[in-house]
Amino acid sequence: MNPSDCTIILFGATGDLARRKLIPAIYKLIKSGYLKKFLFVGVALEESSLVQIFEGAREFIDDYDQSVIDQCISCGCYEQLDITNQENFVRLSKRVIELETTLGLSGNRLVYCAVPSQFFVPIAQHATAAGILTCRKNKNEKSESWQRIVFEKPFGHDLDSAESMHQQLTKCLSDKQIYIIDHYLAKEIVGNIALVRFTNRIFEPLWNKENIESVTITLNEKLDVSMRVGFFEKFGVLKDVVQNHMFQLLALVGMEEPESLTSDAIGIAKAELLEKVAFKTGYLGQYEGYLQHQGVEQGSKVATYANLEFEIDNERWHGVPFRLITGKCLKEKETVIKIKFKPVKCLLTKSCPSDQNELRISIVPRAGFALELNAKKLGNGNEVMPVEMEYCHECIYGLYTPLAYETILQEVIEGMRSISVSFDELITSWKLISQVEQVGLAMYPYPCGGDGPLKENK
Ligand code: BG6
Repeated sequence: MNPSDCTIILFGATGDLARRKLIPAIYKLIKSGYLKKFLFVGVALEESSLVQIFEGAREFIDDYDQSVIDQCISCGCYEQLDITNQENFVRLSKRVIELETTLGLSGNRLVYCAVPSQFFVPIAQHATAAGILTCRKNKNEKSESWQRIVFEKPFGHDLDSAESMHQQLTKCLSDKQIYIIDHYLAKEIVGNIALVRFTNRIFEPLWNKENIESVTITLNEKLDVSMRVGFFEKFGVLKDVVQNHMFQLLALVGMEEPESLTSDAIGIAKAELLEKVAFKTGYLGQYEGYLQHQGVEQGSKVATYANLEFEIDNERWHGVPFRLITGKCLKEKETVIKIKFKPVKCLLTKSCPSDQNELRISIVPRAGFALELNAKKLGNGNEVMPVEMEYCHECIYGLYTPLAYETILQEVIEGMRSISVSFDELITSWKLISQVEQVGLAMYPYPCGGDGPLKENK
């Protein structure tokens, strides 16, 4: 569906997220013809221009076409703005209205906050006061246009800050206008988890403690965090990826059957599941060399690796460990969910070398599913070997798969919410992180380029 028209106002337009993800996604939406009638307003504190912003993002745009950039520049502008200054928002509002009038747009606005979360509330408050966002709390109010605001993760830095931010935001905006996004939910394969579970008879009857031995979710990364020390010193790996992406994956795998496969119903099922999750045990790690990065506090105890075990206190999952493993500066970049089934009784005279089926849901870098099964070895013996039934997403869709951030922008423009986390999910996720933090887990060093802390060092 093509939107009738829309204005995208991007706060943090000169930042890293904009450069790597958002500008390339906006580019793709223009190039594909999805965005036809639009206004793009880049906003940040420093002096810059749209030309500079697109130039900065060039290396992340694989099919760079100058005519698309020219189209965006002719339908856009850059505004230098201090987020703490209300006057600056009044100026921004005038500029937006002026350009919307010239371009014949109807005032549908998407305000994207690609900035640290301490700026979320000031942006929302000033933008509402200046008329960039209109409060839609009054349900009877009829309006021809929509205005929505998107917040990047992490939303807050703990339970209290998230609650207080939400309270302040909902004073000036309705929940329907607020999107707290998690880009993992916009990945095609992640969007597939609920669908595959609940639309194929072969999975759901087996999806329980009688048949599943363990669930392991791994989000490993090669990059170190030397480029993001300021952020990392404050958040660490627990708040950077466990609180959001990894709990979302856990919730999608563990949730009960939702009432329907709509985003609202799935959101309710995920929130209910997260309520039942409890932290059991685990350990943390910090890669060697982290303390030497410029900006890292002397003797910093910030974790760059976590290996955590959770349990789910309900009929379906009682006793099944859910392991979450993640780290920076490791050997490979890979995000994968492994669902290991319980062993089968081996009816062969010889042993069954592969007697546990495994379902692998690969998310990054390759997207797809693989189910490991037992099959007979070639020849007339009676030996089994593991074989894989595989669905390779890229083999079918390849280049046509939208980038996660393209999906996010499209969903917000169309008023869909599957990429947004509900406030209930968010609060429960923060509670779980405080459970982990309160334990004061042991932390071990590990060398870069390996698999994390070695067993013998623990
Ligand atoms: C981001 C985290 O949310 O997700 C990063 O802030 C992490 O630290 C990234 O690298 C991982 O996302 P992806 O899509 O590259 O797996």
